[in-house]
Amino acid sequence: MYKLIDGEKIASDIKLEIKQEVNKRVLSGLKIPHLAAVLAGNNPSAETYVANKIKDCEEVGFKSSLNRLDANTSEKELLDAIKSLNSNPDIDGFIVQLPLPDHIKEVKIIEAIDPSKDVDGFHPSNIGKMILGLPCFLPATPYGIIELLKRYNIETAGKYCVVIGRSNIVGRPVSILLSLKGVDATVTVAHSRTKNIAEITRKADILIAAIGSPNFVTEDMVKEGAVVIDVGTTRVKSDKTKSGWKLKGDVDFENVAPKCSYITPVPGGVGPMTRVSLLRNTLLAATLKDANK
Ligand code: GUN
Repeated sequence: MYKLIDGEKIASDIKLEIKQEVNKRVLSGLKIPHLAAVLAGNNPSAETYVANKIKDCEEVGFKSSLNRLDANTSEKELLDAIKSLNSNPDIDGFIVQLPLPDHIKEVKIIEAIDPSKDVDGFHPSNIGKMILGLPCFLPATPYGIIELLKRYNIETAGKYCVVIGRSNIVGRPVSILLSLKGVDATVTVAHSRTKNIAEITRKADILIAAIGSPNFVTEDMVKEGAVVIDVGTTRVKSDKTKSGWKLKGDVDFENVAPKCSYITPVPGGVGPMTRVSLLRNTLLAATLKDANK
């Protein structure tokens, strides 16, 4: 029988730890961590992400603020908003919610963020440090996945991990974290141009699906006893929910789960861990700022 990896539970444990840390800070006269978000346009999933981030901040006692710009805001206006957050001493960390409107160059925006406030861990300086195994802000989803494996005592050393997907925010960075010293997995990254993908995934002790394609991972692609981490969160139509949609993972859960030793559900697996990782990074940003005073 497989074990379900309960991301909600682990995330709620971590939130409690963060809340206690915030209380300690307040008692010792340190400032309350403050996370800001910039939201340009009104992409529905971006709206949901940001609303959740604000809710999470409230839950752990952080301050939060939202800087809203409309969909046809110029690159210059967005860069100005970033400049102002970079220089605002009350802001410990901030994120620019992706995706951005099409006319704005993502790379240029990310590079404008002060790396010491880049709690998304997307700035090339943080990514470079991550590759070198140096202390830095780790991107939230990969950070959350590694933490889930740790808290479930799932052995990674010497294990064969296959990551499906090579995005800048999930697939590629998680593949790097898995191969770092201390995690010690052997890693293959499979992607849209990979040939005979099932042959590769069938060898995986740990399979991470991060492609955004519902039910992509089927039973025949998974080894008996594998650990399966499903990062997919595609919105699909549903007449059973009030919103009219539900989240669907990249894994055909019903048929894959019986073959697994551990598997994450969608929702309730990686998602809550992504959210809590941003809080961890924000607390770290505030702590590093105290140390550098
Ligand atoms: N869009 C999807 N995931 C993320 C994330 O982790 N951070 C930001 N800024 N945008 C996202």
